[in-house]
Amino acid sequence: MKKIDLPFASKLTSPNPVSLVCTQKPDGSTNLATVSWWTYLSYNPNMIAYAMAKTSYSGEMVRSNQKVVLTIPGAELADAVMGCGSCSGRDTDKAARFGIELTSIEGTSIQVPLHSRLAIVCRLKEYHQAGDHYLYLCDVEQVYADINEAALFAWNGYSSVAPAVKA
Ligand SMILES: Cc1cc2nc3c(=O)[nH]c(=O)nc-3n(C[C@H](O)[C@H](O)[C@H](O)COP(=O)(O)O)c2cc1C
Repeated sequence: MKKIDLPFASKLTSPNPVSLVCTQKPDGSTNLATVSWWTYLSYNPNMIAYAMAKTSYSGEMVRSNQKVVLTIPGAELADAVMGCGSCSGRDTDKAARFGIELTSIEGTSIQVPLHSRLAIVCRLKEYHQAGDHYLYLCDVEQVYADINEAALFAWNGYSSVAPAVKA
């Protein structure tokens, strides 16, 4: 084996997961941020976790109101997912800018993208410093799915998104 760095390792593990983390802004609208670093944590109780840069606006929102919905975007949101990963909700209404149609789901006031394969409604339990990121540990309150939507994955590290095709 050859010695490599961690960013290159994430290229070698592609396709990597990709999600759109939905948080609520003070005006009630939804902010959307692309997040690959998420994981299931526990089935008893149901928990997930995700990591976001300390500077992210999404992090500021969830730390202030504890509400977050982690969604798995459907294939037709590919361009929008790259867009949501390249600007901040601090100065951009991403749903409007990238033409993402939102819908309401039961159990949360946060609207989510209509074309989602999965929506995991969460409450922030705790968060921890992890280098230049915070790790958010969340209790899962509800899970919704639409199996007709094809999940997106991040390819070549995080440089593009597309569905994963089984060989
Ligand atoms: C494919 C892809 C995956 C990404 N994964 C993460 C991630 O896991 N954690 C993170 O902090 N940022 C990740 N980003 C970058 C954020 O989406 C980006 O910093 C975004 O502007 C944050 O938005 P916000 O300030 O509205 O929260 C990713 C971007 C892309 C394109």
